[in-house]
Amino acid sequence: MEGIEKVCQFLSEAQVYYLATADGDQPRVRPFGTVLLYDGRLYIQTGKVKDVSRQIAANPKAELCAFHDGKWLRVAGELVNDDDRAVKVAMLEKFPTLKAMYSPDDENTQVLYLKDATATFSSFTEPSEVIKF
Ligand SMILES: Cc1cc2nc3c(=O)[nH]c(=O)nc-3n(C[C@H](O)[C@H](O)[C@H](O)COP(=O)(O)O)c2cc1C
Repeated sequence: MEGIEKVCQFLSEAQVYYLATADGDQPRVRPFGTVLLYDGRLYIQTGKVKDVSRQIAANPKAELCAFHDGKWLRVAGELVNDDDRAVKVAMLEKFPTLKAMYSPDDENTQVLYLKDATATFSSFTEPSEVIKF
């Protein structure tokens, strides 16, 4: 399995990760669950009306963290907006419950992919594994 696939699988199995952004000099963090591997990129989904989206637009540097099965994963990088409709469709297909709130053609649905990402898997018992994508 490629490194980025391993990251996507871990986040999918964890079901919840915590996404940190910068709001000026104030860190902000919140639970997220959307994750999709599409065309070799790791995407997340949000709504453009949310504070988190505004924070990313002002400063794309972000970090996420998840804990699952005795291991934790941190991914640091930049989040890049992608207006490709096909990615939004694929995201809503992977997370159909989102369809109650989002559609690929509304003005709100946003997908973003991680660029220049460093993913680090850690545990108390094994050495860390670093994956870049
Ligand atoms: C388990 C869980 C998963 C969530 N997944 C997402 C998600 O993938 N995308 C999203 O925009 N909001 C998601 N949310 C909702 C956000 O956490 C919530 O809207 C948050 O307030 C957004 O951050 P903000 O207030 O800084 O904009 C999720 C909430 C929970 C409890």
